[in-house]
Formats: sequence, structure tokens, C-alpha cells
Amino acid sequence: MCAQRIEGKAISDAIRVEIGEEAAKLAARGIVPGLAVVLVGDDPASKVYVGSKAKACEQLGYYSEVHRLEAAASQDELLQLIDKLNNQSNIHGILVQLPLPKHIDEKSVIDAISVAKDVDGFHPVSVGNLVIGDDSLLPCTPAGVIELIKRSGIEIAGKHAVVIGRSNIVGKPVAMLLLREHATVTICHSRTADMEAIAKTADILVVAIGKAKAIGRSFVKPGAIVIDVGINRLSDGKLAGDVDYDDVLDTAGYVTPVPGGVGPMTITMLMLNTLKAAKQQNQIEE
Ligand code: GUN
Repeated sequence: MCAQRIEGKAISDAIRVEIGEEAAKLAARGIVPGLAVVLVGDDPASKVYVGSKAKACEQLGYYSEVHRLEAAASQDELLQLIDKLNNQSNIHGILVQLPLPKHIDEKSVIDAISVAKDVDGFHPVSVGNLVIGDDSLLPCTPAGVIELIKRSGIEIAGKHAVVIGRSNIVGKPVAMLLLREHATVTICHSRTADMEAIAKTADILVVAIGKAKAIGRSFVKPGAIVIDVGINRLSDGKLAGDVDYDDVLDTAGYVTPVPGGVGPMTITMLMLNTLKAAKQQNQIEE
């Protein structure tokens, strides 16, 4: 058996077409979704991500602002900028690119973003709403994982989903979203005893640990859906996921490639959140 490859790029492109149609409807009512992206310092990977976000906005006809602060910028300076953006009516979404320089407290910054404009879904109120099942802006990568599974025609309800990794950005929220979709969810992490045996019982295996090719076929139940959230740079410059793609190919039923799997979905979900935020801030029903 050879696993079916889940084409994240194609699924992401299809969703962007849908978003473009919705954005055009809003434009006809005089509303242009606006996103502000804030970058502090000059981390090369962050610069690339910020550039891609601005480009996605341009392609969809959104308004966007990119604010670049020096690495030495103070926390106060950043908080003042967030305050200004919170009060700016042409900005519906605010994203502060992480990680921040060490002298800035990430939590204070995330807490300062208006919940209505929290398109990253990182604010404690957004996280709380996600956990209790209230409407909120969903964190982009976890929401992208759910969309990939659903749009591949896979039913989530009743399945055993195992999430490897417990970060606030991916592991925990993706587990909550799978639960909301009625999966039975197990979260594994660095202290889990016999992770391999647990992973092998998964119908859906989501891996987000940040270690190149750490998960091979011995972790995969035959026919399982394997979603690889990792993006790791190898010493030869190539990208690899947390899953050893070639190794699991004959065992898994479905698998996402890296690149071209979960990655393209993240910015697409950010665009969807910005659209949703623009609608909500203009009292437009979904
Ligand atoms: N850095 C890496 N991933 C993300 C993300 O999803 N949002 C933000 N703000 N920063 C990131």
C-alpha cells in the first residue's frame, strides 16, 4: 500500500479562491480587510514569514501594514504600537511575529492585543473560548490541520487522534480542535512512556515536535492519517518534517509532505481569520 499524499498547496489554493470571493463581496460594501504584521528584530526566518503574509494580503486585495522595529526596541515601544493598532479602524487583525527578542515579555505583548483583532488566536481569552467551544479566532496552524483532514474527505468524529507535542502554538490547540470535532484525543510529549505504542493506536497522528524525521513507520498504524506540522532545515539546506515521509509511505493511509503540506495552510488560515475579524468588526453575519 502506498499512502495518499495530502496536497496542502492545492487545498490551500482552493480555500484562497473562496476567501477572495468573500473579500470581493465585502469590498462591494466598502469594507477592505486590514492586517497589521509587526516584526521586531531581523530573524531571517521571521522576515520570510512576514514577507509571505504581506504578499498574501496583496493577492487577496486586503489592506496591510508591516511594522518593523529594531531588535533593541523596548517593550513599551511595542506595547504603544499595539495600542495604536488596536484603535485603528482600518486594521482588523494584528499579528506580532514570534519569537520576540529576549528582553521583551511575550505574554505581556500577546495579552495587549485586542481579542477581536487576535488573528493568531494566542490571546488567553481566544484560547479559553476555543477550549469551551465558544466562537473565536482559531490559531492558524491548528485550524489548517483540521481543514486539511476535512477537505481530504476524512471523518474525524469517533477516531482516535494522537497529537505528539504539547506546545501552546500547535499541540494543545490542535488537540482541542480535534476534540471539538468529536475525536478521542491523546496528547504525547517528551515525558510520555512508550510513545511508540500509543502512536501506533492512532487513526489520526499529528506530529509537532520540531525534530527532523523523528517519527518513522514504527509509530504508525497501517492506514493511519499522518499530519506532519514540523518544518526543519537539514544540514544540506533541504527542508524536512518531523515525520520520516519516505519511511511511513508504505504504512500510512494518508500523509502530508514537507514542504507542501501543513505549511501553505497557515497563511491561508490567517487570511481567513482576518476576513472573519473584518466581518465581525463591521457587524456582518457569517
Ligand atoms: N512564529 C512562528 N509561527 C508563528 C505564528 O503562527 N504566529 C506568530 N505570530 N509568530 C509565529
